[in-house]
Amino acid sequence: MKPTPVRELKVSGVGRLTLEKVEEVVKYVEDLALFNPEELAERAGIELDKAASIVRAARRFVRSSVGGRVYRGSEYAHILEARETLTTGVKAIDELLGGGLKVWDVYEFAGEFGSGKTQLCHQVSVTVQLPPEKGGLAGKAVYIDTEGTFSPSRIKMVGERFNVEDPLDNLYVVRPLNVDELEEVVVEELPKLLREGIRLILVDSVIALYRAEFKGREMLAMRQQRINYLLDWLKRYARRYRSVVVITNQVLSQPVPWGIALKIPAGGNIIAHASTHRFFMRRAGEALLLECFDSPTIARGASAKFQITDRGLEDV
Ligand code: GTP
Ligand code: MG
Repeated sequence: MKPTPVRELKVSGVGRLTLEKVEEVVKYVEDLALFNPEELAERAGIELDKAASIVRAARRFVRSSVGGRVYRGSEYAHILEARETLTTGVKAIDELLGGGLKVWDVYEFAGEFGSGKTQLCHQVSVTVQLPPEKGGLAGKAVYIDTEGTFSPSRIKMVGERFNVEDPLDNLYVVRPLNVDELEEVVVEELPKLLREGIRLILVDSVIALYRAEFKGREMLAMRQQRINYLLDWLKRYARRYRSVVVITNQVLSQPVPWGIALKIPAGGNIIAHASTHRFFMRRAGEALLLECFDSPTIARGASAKFQITDRGLEDV
């Protein structure tokens, strides 16, 4: 479906000049419909009431061209059931996930250093490129690397294992240096890439930049608000572009009065609510363990073993 340029949108009481300002931020009506009026007003530098009219018009336009949003329960169940899945390349993990990573959902993987989060991200950046009959989505990926650990040579190694030719060609890498840059990329650059066939959005890690930038108690509320802003955008894209979202997270030790510190994912309620499925990754002797922490479809505590070799993540 060809996208509709913003300037073709008819909004009563809003002139061409305003629409041109909007178009500098967001090119197509289909993406405009994802905005909130406040976000649009701020990014495009226009008045809030105009932004509200524009967003409303964009949503009306999208609804009329793709059909309503109200489903019968049975129909909706069918839609959920029929969603495409993405293989992780590890049988045990795919089984735990109920077939693989599902489009529309946000997957969070939290763990200590060396628990395999980044390796997992590399692996699915490759498997997403596989055709559906091999468990992929025949799509591209965007890798948002906030920690500077993306490794082209690792992608090539994994690509060889899965017989994906030139795996780096279907992969975009973003290396934002601060939260502002990260938000700008996500809000303004991602739509263009998503229209080019991105089916997987990775953020490794979701917390690093925020922790570095918003230090101390008095910054906590602001930090949480900004993380929420980012994750909310990723969720909108996942729905609109039938994509999988994968985020990694660090863990915190929460001291308890009787001694043994409890390990919990960083980021508090905001990340907890934004993630559809949450997992812990940790070492378990020679192998590594992926354990469900919270999910609407997977039992808490259910787990899968895997190992990391030169070929990537593998079954034990
Ligand atoms: P942090 O980002 O530091 O929190 O850790 P992480 O969870 O992202 O860990 P990561 O996925 O980077 O690493 C997990 C393990 O993979 C490490 O212990 C590495 O030794 C191992 N690893 C990475 N590359 C290779 C490789 O090319 N070959 C093999 N055999 N192991 C590798
Ligand atoms: Mg890492």
